[in-house]
Amino acid sequence: RLNAGQTPFFEPGFEDLLSRTSARLTFSTDMADLADATVHFLTVGTPQSPSGAADMTFVDQATTNLLPYLHEGSVVVGKSTVPVGTAERLRAMIEPTGARLMWNPEFLREGFAVQDTLTPDRLVYGVSTGQEDLVEVLDQVYAPILERETPRLVMDFATAELVKVAANSFLATKISFINAMAEIADSVGADVTMLADAIGHDPRIGRKFLNAGIGFGGGCLPKDIRGFVQRAEELGVGAAVSFLDDVDQINLRRRARVLDVLSEELGDLAGQTVALWGLAFKPDSDDIRDSPALDIAENLARAGAQVRAYDPEAMGPAAARIDKAGLAGHITLVDSAEQALDGAAALVVATEWKQFRDVDPHTLDARVVVDGRNCLDRDSWKAAGWTYRGMGRR
Ligand code: UDX
Repeated sequence: RLNAGQTPFFEPGFEDLLSRTSARLTFSTDMADLADATVHFLTVGTPQSPSGAADMTFVDQATTNLLPYLHEGSVVVGKSTVPVGTAERLRAMIEPTGARLMWNPEFLREGFAVQDTLTPDRLVYGVSTGQEDLVEVLDQVYAPILERETPRLVMDFATAELVKVAANSFLATKISFINAMAEIADSVGADVTMLADAIGHDPRIGRKFLNAGIGFGGGCLPKDIRGFVQRAEELGVGAAVSFLDDVDQINLRRRARVLDVLSEELGDLAGQTVALWGLAFKPDSDDIRDSPALDIAENLARAGAQVRAYDPEAMGPAAARIDKAGLAGHITLVDSAEQALDGAAALVVATEWKQFRDVDPHTLDARVVVDGRNCLDRDSWKAAGWTYRGMGRR
């Protein structure tokens, strides 16, 4: 499919990029086809294993399968998000072939993957002592990016590995911090959005990643903080990052909060119909991994509610997971945002797609709306007769 220019997932701009570069880009499932390459990027996933640690199966398998094709002059560049110490371990596997290893974490966001890859904030190179000459190899690969004076930081393996998990841990902490403030705001009748605006004006704090709501999901933040805690415990420094357990717990409580708010408005949820806008973990993505939206759909179904859900891109992946969970009888996937509202006592907005933010509430029959992303214009929804409930908003 990739060779035919088809993308197996939704990512803005990616299909266009694929077609523009097709003359220089081919895909193969046979490692032998890579034998001529000088630089081998290792980009496979490190999903969460049942213990919470990163599952290294794919990284180890890819490295092992690549070994027969490596030789003097080959450079392997690790991009996967890995537990600190992995690069040293892979180096021992790779160096007997004469090849050498670098570590080069990526920081792309889904929905902005093309932009973040081609115009990154910074480049991070991990190299082992005495192999600084490798910097030149990656500099050639990234020449167009470096010409724009993108910061490029060269460091040891362990630091390069840590940069990625530290960055994601910081982002997760920032989101959970504001969600903790949302809990407090709810208990005293304060408004977390105004709070975020006010503290965000301090440039040391900054307004970005201070959007309270149903919290973070996806394939990175949740599993990276859990993997980091596991690895730190293995290293005997678990106490240093034990606060990330709280970050995780605050985040998971947000999903339960939506059901609590709905119960406050509707009473017992059993037998009630609830409309859900959004299934992806964030807008401009069809990714449902650890999606707060889909979790809420499943929890509503388990509470006996009938859910009518719509997402502009994530319906296919969501349908497969709902089937697997045996909840297809309780969660109906419909063809439009309007159809989701048929017979529903309340609407939950769980992913802030632009098309949901842009809806004119006056065109819809008023009922209860739970704005799980604090993304709607509260005044206009109230003016249209809706009972508006935000997250941490008076
Ligand atoms: C993240 C990092 O941002 C990226 O640098 C890294 O390479 C991969 O992990 P991504 O998972 O694509 O990227 O999404 P991100 O934009 O970070 O959002 C993560 C989650 O946090 C989403 O569920 C989003 O809805 C939520 N979020 C984000 C909030 O709840 N509030 C915010 O203020 C920001």
